[in-house]
Amino acid sequence: MPRVLVLNGPNLGRLGSREPDVYGAQDLSALRVLLAEQAGAAVEIDLRQTDNEAELIHWLYEAVDTTTPVILNPAAFTHYSYALRDAVALVTKAGVALVEVHISNPHAREEFRHTSVISAVATGVIAGFGFDSYLLALRVVAPGA
Ligand code: DQA
Repeated sequence: MPRVLVLNGPNLGRLGSREPDVYGAQDLSALRVLLAEQAGAAVEIDLRQTDNEAELIHWLYEAVDTTTPVILNPAAFTHYSYALRDAVALVTKAGVALVEVHISNPHAREEFRHTSVISAVATGVIAGFGFDSYLLALRVVAPGA
């Protein structure tokens, strides 16, 4: 069965209780259920979260090695991690789709969030639609879902 990696960066493990006014009241297990519902039997959703930059980079190597499309919320790494950017470039230059997603709209927030070092090497970006950002990304990377 085709698989999609849904990778989440630092502090996203605290969704549900973290700034619910910005990120909503649902946690990552609720997101996993929403994605699995949309994917149905067609696609396996492999949702992961880490606070560790190296772990996130190694998951991107896995995406390259297994040609698995990626939905990536890099969280705060978005704004400064050139190491993550280089790993994202490995994915997209290998011809594997990678959509950068954000729950909030970083451009409507603090100035430091207006810069993404990831976007230029991502296949595309979806931001500002809450968990629907991930569901929209799934439509792109798994058109059958
Ligand atoms: C975020 C936006 C980032 O600026 C922030 O650091 C996050 C979450 C989002 O999904 O809206 O942790 O990526």
